[in-house]
Amino acid sequence: MTITTCIFDAYGTLFDVAAAARQAASEPGFEALRDTWPEVAGHWRLKQLQYTWLRAVADAHADFWDVTQDGLDWALEATGLHENAKLRQRLLDLYWELQAYPEVPNMLKALKDGGLQTAILSNGSPPMLDGAVQSAGIGNLLDDVLSVESVGVFKPHARVYDLVQQRFGCARDEVLFVSSNGWDAAGASGYGFVTAWVNRANEPIDRLPWTPAHVLTDLTSIPELAGV
Ligand code: LAC
Repeated sequence: MTITTCIFDAYGTLFDVAAAARQAASEPGFEALRDTWPEVAGHWRLKQLQYTWLRAVADAHADFWDVTQDGLDWALEATGLHENAKLRQRLLDLYWELQAYPEVPNMLKALKDGGLQTAILSNGSPPMLDGAVQSAGIGNLLDDVLSVESVGVFKPHARVYDLVQQRFGCARDEVLFVSSNGWDAAGASGYGFVTAWVNRANEPIDRLPWTPAHVLTDLTSIPELAGV
């Protein structure tokens, strides 16, 4: 089946989630992060994701902004930085203006020039996604930004992936779904999308019942995979 629609996960896939802690660490006043920022960023991301899965199975949804703050609070306490209110606020502010990976604009432009539909499908709340898309300047290269908030449950619930068909009216195997999260790429494979896992960190593959169709190191080959 020909790919007609490319759907992207947001955080970690188009936007560099480690950028907030990395940038704060280079700013005056946040010397406490100089050596610890990779640890803070790692704990923050892992707890944020764990809380999405736990809230999904416990039927206790909260939006991704709440979950992101909860994850950060855990990470700051784990690294002994929880009494630094200015640091907490700076990290949260930076999360609204994460950098996109450098290849993102050209990759999206190639897809649009090739006539494909493009969108984000993310756990992020609409205001968070709006902030990230605006600050990366990629809004004109996306047909839509779909948020789990319209179904009130996090990935990898099938109701989230259903949003693609509802918006674009395409068959599952016409969709190339791209995520840097191994569990998201796996879940989308199980759902029936053609999937690409962007494994920038050369991590082991997740031991789940489904595997991604493609494994990439960055996003540059996405247009080729999509047949453009
Ligand atoms: C997202 C998270 C999973 O953007 O990265 O949905």
